[in-house]
Amino acid sequence: MYAQPSLEEGFGISVIEAMACLARRGGAPMNVLTAALLRCATCGRGGLEVHPFDGDERRVVEGALTCSCGAWHRVEGRIADLMPPALRDAERTSAFARRHGLPADDGTRALSTNLREQLEHFAGYVDEYERLIVGSPYHAVQDALKFEPWLERELRAGALVLEIGCGTGRQTTALARRGIRSLGVDVSEVMLARARDKVRAMGREELVDLVLGTAERPPVLLDTFDACVINGTLHHVDDPERALREAVARVRSGGKLFVLDNHASPVRPLFDWLMHRFPLYEEHAHEDRRFSERQLLTWMRDAGVTGRAELTTFLPPHAWYAVRGASGRALLRLTDVAARIPLLRRLAGIVIVTGTKRGAARPPA
Ligand SMILES: C[S@@+](CC[C@H](N)C(=O)[O-])C[C@H]1O[C@@H](n2cnc3c(N)ncnc32)[C@H](O)[C@@H]1O
Ligand SMILES: [Zn+2]
Repeated sequence: MYAQPSLEEGFGISVIEAMACLARRGGAPMNVLTAALLRCATCGRGGLEVHPFDGDERRVVEGALTCSCGAWHRVEGRIADLMPPALRDAERTSAFARRHGLPADDGTRALSTNLREQLEHFAGYVDEYERLIVGSPYHAVQDALKFEPWLERELRAGALVLEIGCGTGRQTTALARRGIRSLGVDVSEVMLARARDKVRAMGREELVDLVLGTAERPPVLLDTFDACVINGTLHHVDDPERALREAVARVRSGGKLFVLDNHASPVRPLFDWLMHRFPLYEEHAHEDRRFSERQLLTWMRDAGVTGRAELTTFLPPHAWYAVRGASGRALLRLTDVAARIPLLRRLAGIVIVTGTKRGAARPPA
C-alpha cells in the first residue's frame, strides 16, 4: 500500500486541466495528454494526476502520476512506470522516491522466472536486437509485405494505436512515420528507452508515448484504442490467451487487431537446429510457445474479434540474407504460395491474425 505522496499543494495538473491547456495552445498530444488514457497500476482506476518535476504541462520528462487511491507512479526519461507494484523495479523506484521526497516503495519484487529472464535477456541484448533482429533482411521484408499493407488498409493518420510489447519500436516507428499516434507498453525499460530515442531521432516524439507495463494487465483505459498491434510478443508472455483478451478489451468496437507470432509448425525443430548451427540472432522465450491459426482465431473470437489468419514464411530467415531488397520481397511472395496448398500450409513459420472488434462501431476519435 502506498501513502498519499507529499507533493506540494497545487503543483499537480489534473488531466482535464492539462487537456484544456493543450486545447488552448493547439498543442500536439504528448505525455500529459496520454496520462488521460492511463490506469493506476495499483487500483486500476483512471483519472491519474500529472506532476511534472522536469518538463512542462505539455511534456513530462520526469515527474509523478498520482491516483486517488494514494499510489504514485514514476515518470522518468518520458517513460511512465505502470508495472504492477509487485513487478516494479524497487531499486529504481526507491532512488526516484529519495530524489523527489516521495514515500518509499517498500515492496519486494515477485517476478515469475520467465519475466525475470525476459528482463535480463532484453536488458543485455538491446544493441544486438536492433542490429540482428530489427535490422535483419527477413524482418524488413516481413514488415514491408505484412505490417505495412495492413496499416495502409486499416488506419489513417491521427488514429490511436495500443502496442503491446513494442520493444525497441519496430512497429512504433512505422506507425509514427504515417502520423498515427501510439501508446507502447513493454516490461523492459531498456527496450522502451531505445524506442523513445528512435522516435525522437525521427522528430515524431509528439505522436508516441511509452509505458512500462505488462501484456497481462495493460495499464490503459478499456474500449478506447482504434487498434492494437502485438507483433512477436505473445510467445514471450506468461499467459498469452489473457494477454490477447486484455488487449482486445482496450480496443473500441469496430477497432482493428494485428497479431503476429511463431506458428506451431511440425518442422519447427528443424528451424531451431538451423538457428543453433548457423545463429542469426538469439530468441529468448518459452520454448513451447508456438500458436496454431485455430488457437489464435479461437482466442480472438472468444475475446470478441472477428478475424482471419494468414500463414507465411516457409523458409528459414537465413534465405533472406542471400537475396536482398526487391528479390527478398519476391522470395516471400513466391514461397508464400505454399499457404494455399493444404499439405504444405502447416509448415509455415509465422502466423498472422488480423480482425475487427465486434459491437456497434463508433467512429475513430
Ligand atoms: C520479440 S520482442 C518484440 C518487439 C517488437 N514488437 C518487434 O517486433 O520488434 C518481445 C518484447 O516483448 C516484451 N515482453 C516480454 N514479456 C512481456 C510482458 N509480459 N508484457 C509486455 N511485454 C513483454 C519484451 O520486453 C520485448 O520487448
Ligand atoms: Zn490507484
